[in-house]
Formats: sequence, structure tokens, C-alpha cells
Amino acid sequence: MADAAKHPSINSRPPVSQLKTLHSLPETRRSSVLFYGFVFSFVAFALFSALTPSSNSSSLWFTSIFTSFSTGNSSSSSALSNFSSSVMIKKPSNGTNAGLVEKLTNCDLFDGEWVRDDSYPLYKPGSCSLIDEKFNCFANGRPDDAYCKLKWKPRGCSLPRLNGSHMLELLTGKRLVFVGDSLNRNMWESLVCILRNSAKNQSNVYEGYGRHRFRTRASYSFVFKDYDCTIEFFASPFLVQEWETQFQNGSKKETLRLDMIEKSADEYKSADILIFNTGHWWTHEKTSKGKDYYQEGSNVYIELNVLEAFRRALTTWGRWVDANVNPMKTLVLFRGYSVSHFNGGQWNSGGQCDQETEPIKNKTYLSSYPLKMKVLERVLKGMKTPVAYMNISRMTDYRKDGHPSIYRKQNLSEEKRKPPSRSQDCSHWCLPGVPDAWNELLYAELLRKQK
Ligand SMILES: *[C@@H]1O[C@H](CO)[C@@H](O)[C@H](O)[C@H]1NC(C)=O
Ligand SMILES: *[C@@H]1O[C@H](CO)[C@@H](O)[C@H](O)[C@H]1NC(C)=O
Ligand SMILES: *[C@@H]1O[C@H](CO)[C@@H](O)[C@H](O)[C@H]1NC(C)=O
Ligand SMILES: *[C@@H]1O[C@H](CO)[C@@H](O)[C@H](O)[C@H]1NC(C)=O
Ligand SMILES: *[C@@H]1O[C@H](CO)[C@@H](O)[C@H](O)[C@H]1NC(C)=O
Ligand SMILES: *[C@@H]1O[C@H](CO)[C@@H](O)[C@H](O)[C@H]1NC(C)=O
Ligand SMILES: *[C@@H]1O[C@H](CO)[C@@H](O)[C@H](O)[C@H]1NC(C)=O
Ligand SMILES: *[C@@H]1O[C@H](CO)[C@@H](O)[C@H](O)[C@H]1NC(C)=O
Ligand SMILES: *[C@@H]1O[C@H](CO)[C@@H](O)[C@H](O)[C@H]1NC(C)=O
Repeated sequence: MADAAKHPSINSRPPVSQLKTLHSLPETRRSSVLFYGFVFSFVAFALFSALTPSSNSSSLWFTSIFTSFSTGNSSSSSALSNFSSSVMIKKPSNGTNAGLVEKLTNCDLFDGEWVRDDSYPLYKPGSCSLIDEKFNCFANGRPDDAYCKLKWKPRGCSLPRLNGSHMLELLTGKRLVFVGDSLNRNMWESLVCILRNSAKNQSNVYEGYGRHRFRTRASYSFVFKDYDCTIEFFASPFLVQEWETQFQNGSKKETLRLDMIEKSADEYKSADILIFNTGHWWTHEKTSKGKDYYQEGSNVYIELNVLEAFRRALTTWGRWVDANVNPMKTLVLFRGYSVSHFNGGQWNSGGQCDQETEPIKNKTYLSSYPLKMKVLERVLKGMKTPVAYMNISRMTDYRKDGHPSIYRKQNLSEEKRKPPSRSQDCSHWCLPGVPDAWNELLYAELLRKQK
């Protein structure tokens, strides 16, 4: 197949893709970051594969559409049902929803395929002025549009099309908060665009602090005034606290406190819906090498394996959720690892995706399930708070066509757009695009909880 011939290297890349967060490191360090990240993933993968038995054994109790992790005890399932009824006040409108919700509940939403649907995207390309320039591929001159017309179709059911007016009704009086890295910001911006399009009066949708750029400050909040609702984003790429430690000789060093939840956590712990993510920053130089970087208490580890550090950080996060988030009030979700597609190199060494206009069709070229997500699954199982896990790694893996690639900036000339003047972005997603489908999954989860 042409598809197979064209993308042979997709199959040969390491299972956990490297270096996603562009521009977060100084230019000079990038190549060593890449090198270590690359080597490390292979080593870690080999170790992990040797030690981990097949994960299929745990699949039995994944019954709901979203995997609700909990102890599997009867007490936790009753907590879950009470929680369901309290989170969503509105009852489903008659007829349409009842049967639909039933189907969604018994379906694995993450096992499926992308199908063309010309009624998509959910908002016109270029119509959402709120989107970051770097996600706004249409405005940045991307000529093809098939990537916006794909709908995620689970094997066992159909996802309802996201009805923005209905979702706004569901979110009336609520606070929905995204916490995580720039991939969660990508999802947040998608949701804001979708919902703003459906708002009764778009002049009553605004950023609460009057901000128009979302890449620097720590938190942002879109207010949907007519619905008494906010859709917020807190930048927290590790979920735990970035730190600076001072040695006795007076020298200082940046570390990552694996034992401390990130400092703004108090501000969002009482939100109605929380959507967390982390992952890509754990492939950076400091995190993947893990030398003199990870800290617990006053101890800075001379060296610590990145997967172990990731496990400890998530455990800290999980304990914080269990101790601070009220599952009767708050719906907690964790969005899994979004796959990158740097072909023929990494993001800082000529990796490309700008020729891609179609998703991967042959499953042979999908990568294996990220080790970090296996670690995450174990942590979630150990928590007492039910957490809905959005297992989106596979669905994003298909979408090598969905990234901003060279269409990251407005009004660039053809030469300026092309490498090597600029690295490509093959880790974030164009909007409209893939994160809209994550929000359709979120919508499905809200419908399910409404039961
Ligand atoms: C299950 O719930 C019972 C009380 O209902 C409790 O004693 C037991 O420790 C729980 N088991 C687990 C694995 O949480
Ligand atoms: C769930 O709600 C019912 C009725 O509102 C209550 O009797 C029950 O104790 C609650 N269960 C839990 C686990 O809170
Ligand atoms: C809801 O649907 C049921 C059966 O489909 C019907 O009997 C009932 O009248 C409906 N209720 C409303 C309020 O429409
Ligand atoms: C979308 O939701 C609104 C509000 O609940 C409803 O009036 C409308 O009929 C829905 N549209 C579709 C296409 O289902
Ligand atoms: C929309 O909201 C603005 C500002 O609150 C108000 O001035 C305007 O009249 C509203 N438009 C409609 C159609 O309600
Ligand atoms: C200060 O102490 C730390 C930790 O012992 C060491 O890594 C660092 O090199 C020292 N700095 C200076 C300037 O001696
Ligand atoms: C997928 O690719 C593999 C390897 O190139 C090939 O053997 C297989 O026939 C392909 N499957 C389909 C359905 O095209
Ligand atoms: C998530 O999806 C992957 C396939 O990409 C699968 O291997 C894994 O078991 C799934 N995890 C859960 C909890 O369903
Ligand atoms: C790009 O060009 C258009 C049309 O010339 C202009 O309206 C827009 O402001 C420019 N954008 C930037 C970021 O310079």
C-alpha cells in the first residue's frame, strides 16, 4: 500500500515519543535533550517490557465507557453513583438520551477509528478568534481541510455529535478546569471555541482577566456569563511542584518536588469538573536524565529513573486528589498521552509531518501503548476517588495528519515556513481538529453521568 511505503519510519520510532513541548528549552540544549530522551526510552522500554506481564488481565473490570478507576469495591461504586447524580443536575431530555446513554455506557469509546463526516468540524476553521496563533492552522495558511472532517467512531457505538447548547445547559452554574501542559491548553481552547459558538450571546463570553494570549501566565478563565459557568486552564506541566533548592554552600539548583502537589492546586480543588494531564515534559533533558533533579523532602536524588519519578509524582497527585477533592461534588478525569508524529527525525532535527494529509490507516504503523500510561493506570487503580481515564493514546496515534507542522504562524512566506528555518510542530493539534474529538468524549462522559 502507498500508505505503508510512505511512512515506514512511523513503525520504527520509540514507543514513547520524544520531546513534545516546543520552545520550552533553550536552543543549545535541544540536541542533547533529544539524544538522552531517545536512548532512555529504549532502555526504559526494554526494562519495562521484561518486567511487566501482559496488561490484559486487568481489562475485565473496565466496563464503563470511561474507565473509572477505583478499588472496585461496592462502597466505591455507590460513591460513584451518588456522585453521578449530584454532579449533573439536569435530567436527560426524553427519548434521545435514554437509549443513547445506555449504549455509551456499554461501549469502549477509545477503541475505534476515524471516519469522514462532512458535517464536521464543529466550528468553521478560522472562525474562533480565541485560538492561539500556533493552533490556528487555517489562518496560518494550511491548504488542506480533510483533517477537520474526521469524526471519531468507536467500534461498538456512535458518539453523539457535541451539541454546544446542550453542553452549556449541562455546565450551567459549573466550573470546569483543565490542569496540565500545553496539550491540555489545546483541549481547553477547543472547548472554549465549541461552546462560544453555541452561546446565546457571544459578547457575554470573555476571558475573566482580559487576557488574549495564553502561553505565559499560569491560569486563565473563560467566563460564560449567561450560563454562570467558567472554563479554565491552569498550566501545570508536571502536576507536582517545580522547585529551587539551596545548598549549604549557597548555590541554587532547580529541582522537581515529587512529594509536593503543584502550588495552585488549592485554587481548583473545589471545581465541578477537573481534567488533568501530564506526560510530555517528562521527556525533557532534566526529567529523562534524572540527575540531581528529582527531590523529596530535603533529598535531591543523584539519579532517579524517569518512570519511577513519574510514578512518584502521580502518586503524590493521587493522594492529593483523595485528600482534597470531594467526589460527591467533583468529576475527575485524566486525559492520557497524546501521541506525536515526527517523521524522519525528531522535532529539533528535521522531524516532519507537513506532508501528512491523511491519518494512519494500517494499524501495523501504530506505536505501542506508552509506558507512562501503564504507570498512570496503576496509580489510578490505587486511588479511592473514581477517576475517569480518557485513554486517547491510540486515537491520537492514527492522526499524523492533524498537527500544525509548518502552519504555526500567520503570514509567513513559503521559505520562512519551511525547515530548517523553523522546527515543525508535530505534537500539538490544529484547531479545529483532534482535541474537538476529546471534547466529544468529554460530552459523552457528561451525558453518561447525567443518568
Ligand atoms: C471494601 O469495603 C469494605 C467496607 O465496605 C472495606 O472494609 C474494605 O477494606 C474495602 N476493600 C478495599 C479493597 O478497599
Ligand atoms: C448515596 O445517597 C443516598 C441517598 O441520597 C444515601 O442514603 C447514601 O448513604 C449515599 N451513599 C454514599 C456512599 O454516600
Ligand atoms: C418520555 O418517553 C416516554 C417513552 O418514550 C413517554 O412515554 C413519555 O411520555 C415521555 N415523557 C416526556 C416528558 O416527554
Ligand atoms: C441541542 O441542544 C439544544 C438544547 O438542549 C436542543 O434544543 C437542540 O434541539 C439540540 N440540537 C440537536 C441537533 O440535537
Ligand atoms: C449581548 O450582550 C451584550 C452585552 O451584555 C448586550 O449589550 C447585547 O444587547 C446582548 N445582545 C443580545 C442579542 O441579547
Ligand atoms: C555546592 O554544593 C552542591 C551540592 O553539594 C554542589 O553540587 C555544587 O557544585 C556546590 N557549588 C559550589 C559553587 O561549590
Ligand atoms: C499493513 O502493513 C503490513 C506491513 O506493511 C502489511 O503486511 C499488511 O498487509 C497491511 N495491512 C493492511 C490491511 O493493509
Ligand atoms: C488504553 O488503550 C490501550 C490501547 O491503545 C490499551 O492497551 C489499554 O489497555 C487501554 N487502557 C485501559 C485502561 O483501557
Ligand atoms: C496577517 O495578514 C493579514 C492580512 O494581511 C492581517 O490582517 C493580519 O493582521 C496579519 N497577521 C499578523 C499576525 O501579522
